[in-house]
Amino acid sequence: MISIKALAESPGLTSIPPAYAFTHNPNDQPVSDDPEDSIPIVDFSLLTSGTPDQRSRTIHHLGKACQDWGFFMVINHGVPESLTKAMTEACGEFFNLTEEEKREFGGKHVLDSIRCGTSFNASVDEVLFWRDFLKVFVHPQFHSPTKPAAFREISLEYSKRTRELARELLKGISTSLGLGECYIEKALNLESGLQIVAANLYPPCPEPELAMGMPPHSDHGLLTLLVQNGISGLQVQHQSKWVNVNSIPNAFVVNVGDHMEIMSNGKYRSVVHRAFVNEKATRISIATVYGPSLDTVVGPAPELVHRETNPPAYTEMKYKEYLQLQQSNQLDGKSCLDHVRISPA
Ligand code: OGA
Ligand code: NI
Repeated sequence: MISIKALAESPGLTSIPPAYAFTHNPNDQPVSDDPEDSIPIVDFSLLTSGTPDQRSRTIHHLGKACQDWGFFMVINHGVPESLTKAMTEACGEFFNLTEEEKREFGGKHVLDSIRCGTSFNASVDEVLFWRDFLKVFVHPQFHSPTKPAAFREISLEYSKRTRELARELLKGISTSLGLGECYIEKALNLESGLQIVAANLYPPCPEPELAMGMPPHSDHGLLTLLVQNGISGLQVQHQSKWVNVNSIPNAFVVNVGDHMEIMSNGKYRSVVHRAFVNEKATRISIATVYGPSLDTVVGPAPELVHRETNPPAYTEMKYKEYLQLQQSNQLDGKSCLDHVRISPA
């Protein structure tokens, strides 16, 4: 299938092919115009090098952000801006490879360690999305496309730094759930946790209001860390409205994934989000998903469930099976979670 990059660059393109026209649900929630609606900001430096008091306040704030929004922005995180910029450029150069060069990294199966393509799952998508992607498994084994030449080294460093950041955030989140700092990393085997770097390319679109970059969905892992090339497009569902995420330069946008929802027995919920496209600028975003090890069976933490007052709300499932389920179907809100959700009696 033709990449969205090649399509967007076709000479004289003034409208989108019908296969890309998205029918907006008339019952869709409105976009918030309240300037107060903006996702919480977490100062990472207070988590790792603040006073005990600052640290405990930051952990509380982190827990509240996970509970009320499922999304937050992380500042003062220590990942060099130059590294994020280099990574964004390397991803841009990957998408600039010829169609033939990219085909080499096509990947056929959802668990292939390197996979690039267009839309989400073009074989089952009813409507195609205005997006090309590259997904690379970078932990527990590090993989990298061999082109562009500089990709490997930059991605290795970027993966390592974002993984360290995610693990520190997970320690804070684990503490905020009253589970002790190392609970999540031990229970979900983060030593061999799966980390995926997923780059998204959204070229300019002649009819942005008809197309969709990424449909409403939640992410499968524990946490996703997102950066973008300064161009907005992400919207987050919050209290029956869509909220635009206007990211602060060099901040990471972090969100709770389905496995955090399952593990916390629904206390922290994965939040539905979507990506828009625009007419003028190419947008590149890089989502780094960090989750349990593929063979870990995940269910609600026994410490958080109580037979009478807080019964388990999800059944157990191996992370690998959940991933296969989500990635082989259409991306549809939080529908994948329905496979493990226990409906109240
Ligand atoms: C994702 C995602 C949003 C964006 O890759 O899972 O939600 O803004 N991306 O690109
Ligand atoms: Ni997402």
